[in-house]
Amino acid sequence: MKNFDRNDFLDMVVYQIYPRSFCDGNGDGIGDIKGIISKLDYLKDLGVNAVWLSPCYKSPKYDNGYDVSDYRDIDPDYGTLDDMKRLISELHKRGIKLITDFVANHTSSEHKWFKEAKKSKDNPYHDYYIWEKTPPTKWTCCFGGSAWEYNEETGEYYLHSFAVQQPDLNWKNPKVREEMRSVVDFWLDLGVDGFRCDVLDYIGKNYATDHMHGDPSMHAYINELFGRDKLSRIFTVGECQSDEKDIREICGEDRGELTTVFQFEHFGVGRKDRWIKYPFAFDDVKNILSKWQYFSAKNGLLYTLFTDNHDQPYFISRTGNDREYRYECATMYAAMFYLLKGIPFIYQGQEFGSASPEYPSIDYYDDIETRNYYAYQEKAKEYPRYEVMNQVRFGSRDNSRHPVAWSEDEKTGYGFGSEKTWLPLNSRAKEINLERDKKSEKSVIGFYKKLLAYRKSSEVIRRGDFKELSADGEGNKGCFVFERSLGEKKVVVAVNFDREQTIELPVNEEEYKFIMSNNPAYKPFNKQFSAFDVAVYEKTK
Ligand code: GLC
Ligand code: CA
Repeated sequence: MKNFDRNDFLDMVVYQIYPRSFCDGNGDGIGDIKGIISKLDYLKDLGVNAVWLSPCYKSPKYDNGYDVSDYRDIDPDYGTLDDMKRLISELHKRGIKLITDFVANHTSSEHKWFKEAKKSKDNPYHDYYIWEKTPPTKWTCCFGGSAWEYNEETGEYYLHSFAVQQPDLNWKNPKVREEMRSVVDFWLDLGVDGFRCDVLDYIGKNYATDHMHGDPSMHAYINELFGRDKLSRIFTVGECQSDEKDIREICGEDRGELTTVFQFEHFGVGRKDRWIKYPFAFDDVKNILSKWQYFSAKNGLLYTLFTDNHDQPYFISRTGNDREYRYECATMYAAMFYLLKGIPFIYQGQEFGSASPEYPSIDYYDDIETRNYYAYQEKAKEYPRYEVMNQVRFGSRDNSRHPVAWSEDEKTGYGFGSEKTWLPLNSRAKEINLERDKKSEKSVIGFYKKLLAYRKSSEVIRRGDFKELSADGEGNKGCFVFERSLGEKKVVVAVNFDREQTIELPVNEEEYKFIMSNNPAYKPFNKQFSAFDVAVYEKTK
């Protein structure tokens, strides 16, 4: 057996599946495991070798499965535990790993632990959660309103960092830590290859701070969970809003905590918060990426590369032009992120240029965060209603949660598998679906496949060092040029944002060969770049 090398994780290309919206295998309007299995050859062909599966566990689904009521069973909407076992084996047959979501900070209020805990103060499960006689903090929960909820039976308040239906577990209680360790073991025994750890930094909290996450006590807890010898080879990625120090401590090779974390700084560009838009500056994204590339190199960290997930509107809709230049934006961002050093994550639909829909009213939205915000605004009236709807269309999590449009066939919900779906189909599904994209001269998925195949073939891209070449100069240059190198080998990547401009590249025809562009009209070894052009060169001598 080959010796374990942590850097092998850099060979992963992860695809995120949001099960409710991926593919409906039995026509009831909800995506399911059978549907997922029917798409595995597609994923293999795309060049993916790992899947991150958002929660399929039993859940009343106030937060679509991030409120787990049984960590050891599958929700009937998605199938059975046997279906899950089959999924794991079908994935493994194709050389694809399974990274399952692990929700450690909170359970559903319908979990048997909480149902017991709220009955009385001396119930054996009471101490599994966080109770106080009076709220000791002014914390607001992430979905709006107070983070403390009164429970009549015990005359106390419990903490919920998220929805009322998602009570926070008490990680100070060794029994909770033991329970969660055994959940991890349960899934490892079933054959999963890793965990995406939901809001993991929330398991450490301190009443003296104004936020509910990030207390250093989390390190010991994470170490207890994953720092065990037999787990060193599994892949763990944490959703953590950590600063540089935390990240070094969570992901340091010597720490026994996590393989890596998602670093979300680039998601903050072009907005004040989820709902409010700010002017977008491409160079801000570029500078953030550059900064974290250097930081990761200096600290020996593995970095995650992503533009999309189930909590965000599609990136190209928020930070690009998803109308006239949808293909160009989608392919430019793919090259910009996935040719950096790190582990690519692709969110379902992104690979064929999916964009946010245009829903006319709040009735088209299901997401608890969106609904809470809208209801709050109905009372607070901080903005006129049309403005609130604009904010929802800009920022709602449902923007990327609509059922995936696989084909041009309207009758099957554009190939999703049902006409009537749990969340309306994307209003742009006729224009943006996989089948149509494949046939197009400007095919996003065509470019993704080429890009991922190139990544696979190039050790320089997977393992090489990063150096930014577009760092100097003033103002918003609107381009990102970088070099990747491994020994003598070099790759130069240039991506241009939304204007035509001249970009000086350190490449010449004698020493470099042109590898690819997203624009068939791009002339190699030319300084002229059109809007959203990408150019990749490799050193030959
Ligand atoms: C994470 C999930 C999000 C969920 C929240 C609470 O941020 O990605 O979807 O609502 O945690 O579990
Ligand atoms: Ca179904």
